[in-house]
Amino acid sequence: MISIKVHNSNDSTLMTTRSPQDKASGSTSTVRVISRPKATRIMIANGKGGVGKTTVTTNLLSHLSLLGPVGLFDYDTQGSASFWLSLRGEREPVITRFSTKAHDRGQVTRSWMTHQVAQKARYVVTDTPAGLSSPLLDKLLIDTDIVLIPVSPSQIDIHATAAFVKSLLLNPQFRRRPVKLGVVMNRIRKNTLSFHKLEKFLSTLDIPVVSQVRDTQFYVKAAEAGLGVNELSQKSPADQKSWVQMIRWIRAYESTVPKAADRSSTQKKLRDGTEQLLGVPFSDDEPVEDQGQKKG
Ligand SMILES: Nc1ncnc2c1ncn2[C@@H]1O[C@H](COP(=O)(O)OP(=O)(O)OP(=O)(O)O)[C@@H](O)[C@H]1O
Ligand SMILES: [Mg+2]
Repeated sequence: MISIKVHNSNDSTLMTTRSPQDKASGSTSTVRVISRPKATRIMIANGKGGVGKTTVTTNLLSHLSLLGPVGLFDYDTQGSASFWLSLRGEREPVITRFSTKAHDRGQVTRSWMTHQVAQKARYVVTDTPAGLSSPLLDKLLIDTDIVLIPVSPSQIDIHATAAFVKSLLLNPQFRRRPVKLGVVMNRIRKNTLSFHKLEKFLSTLDIPVVSQVRDTQFYVKAAEAGLGVNELSQKSPADQKSWVQMIRWIRAYESTVPKAADRSSTQKKLRDGTEQLLGVPFSDDEPVEDQGQKKG
């Protein structure tokens, strides 16, 4: 009879087998089975420009870097997140930038690439461009665990975000394998009319609001220095709370098996809520690609 012993370690499983012959000779055979990638892959996306995608990417990275090794995929040709990383001092926790070039050129699949990355990072955050096209979204959704959607409180952003969420829910890759969705309310100023309008819109979606991020110059200052707001010498507890909440939500997700979103009811609520808010019909037949708007 062959006896098998299994030992789990962080990134692999060791199986030690012992056959009768092994027993006689006093030897064992060991096989290492690499288990599935352990990195949690988070994509920051909204077809609308200027809503805070890069700000959420960089601050999430700087906060997550306290939990373990982290990596950045920058899919925006403007390269703002990569530029931020180039400004980062050596005293701060290291954030690795993973090149997206081989993937862009079709030389490797995203699965292969993320598998390589997973060996080096506990969390991987992907920054995406404004006007994210359906084919790119389709490609990026492969091997993504969480999509965080930043939205800021303006009528135009709300409209564009509604269209983006719709395009996400209709995306073929998302329909095949729904990922966890969350909204980040960015640049908020409480007790303003625009804040309440945004809250009302978001309450119509079946997507949780993960965190609220204040509108403050600390974010501008931190961006200029390659830092997160947590790494500034002067920081505010209110800002820390936003990121702690976001990370708690991510950690809670990690401890569960993600449930497939009920897309049809989400879509209906989204449509009804948007119509109610904007006072105009929001057609399901609108071409979703045309809805993403560039900043400026
Ligand atoms: N919470 C905030 N408080 C103050 N300023 C902010 C905040 N979030 C973002 N900003 C500022 O708003 C501008 C746009 O933000 P950011 O670059 O993160 O948006 P984006 O969605 O990545 O834009 P793009 O679509 O062009 O890539 C930047 O100047 C940024 O510093
Ligand atoms: Mg950006």
